[in-house]
Amino acid sequence: MPNSPADQFECKITWLDEQPMFVGRSYQLQIGDQARKANITALKYKVDASSQEQIAATKLVSSEVAICNISLDQPVAWASGGDSAAPSKFTLLDLQTKQTVGTGLINFALRRSQNIHPHEFDIDMAARAAQKAQTPAVLWLTGLSSSGKSTIANEVERQLFALGKHSYLLDGDNVRHALNRDLGFTDADRVENIRRVSEVARLMLDSGLIVITAFISPFVAERRQAKETIGAVHFYEIFIDTPITVAEQRDVKGLYKKARSGQLKNFTGIDSPYEPPIKPSLIIKTETNTPQQSAKQVIEFLQEQGVL
Ligand code: ADX
Repeated sequence: MPNSPADQFECKITWLDEQPMFVGRSYQLQIGDQARKANITALKYKVDASSQEQIAATKLVSSEVAICNISLDQPVAWASGGDSAAPSKFTLLDLQTKQTVGTGLINFALRRSQNIHPHEFDIDMAARAAQKAQTPAVLWLTGLSSSGKSTIANEVERQLFALGKHSYLLDGDNVRHALNRDLGFTDADRVENIRRVSEVARLMLDSGLIVITAFISPFVAERRQAKETIGAVHFYEIFIDTPITVAEQRDVKGLYKKARSGQLKNFTGIDSPYEPPIKPSLIIKTETNTPQQSAKQVIEFLQEQGVL
């Protein structure tokens, strides 16, 4: 008997890629001839290859096996292991390169999705935006620590406010004191940090606001995911392009010094990577420009784009 199509599963994943698998990251899932976008929603435990012991983990490296929950963008036909009428095995591919990064076997469907039905409300983003007489947008600032993200974001918001625009600023240091206070600075925690912020930014955009986010957001994959979550037409990736030598000289919070002396681990640019944007909407150079000039550049860019 084939199962009814489902979009959330518990499954066993064998990881094959050099880049680790992270909870919260999305991949392409290929099951039979069906292709879906899959998000890893939980890593329940890794299975030790020799002892079969269950080990708690937040990421999976090459040749490791784990029991995970996944969520798909649309339901698929599937089978429990052994049923030949529909597939139970799948492969995971990198969304960008389409290279195989893992294989999997479905254990069972999670029923929760069948009991949750999104509701369409009468007042939508367009209505909220019209009431505020503005075009909602998300200005996604990315760059190293001490690159100037928060300072420029603050100045941009001041200028938007002066223009009578309704806005909100989401800032790394602040969000990490509250919503994301349970997260640290491992790669896995940074992935989750940005996933949550993307969802919050999406809700704020939907409420008709111009949202400015100021997070290092060091990985291309999560920024791409943020763009998809938020919607490409509303998303502007703004690279605060300050060389590490300059950021380190500024060292506003004394964190580079701590990282260099080994007191602070996993620091971006020192022993944790920063992947610069490939094709940002706007590049801001802060070496010679004041924060006011940089903010002006952002405002002019928004005018060119028809947001203002
Ligand atoms: S992100 O990488 O997950 O996007 P986020 O922008 O939220 O980072 O937080 C970065 C801020 O946290 C920095 O501005 C800095 O003040 C502080 N911080 C503390 N530890 C670290 C670290 N190991 N790496 C980077 N920033 C850190």
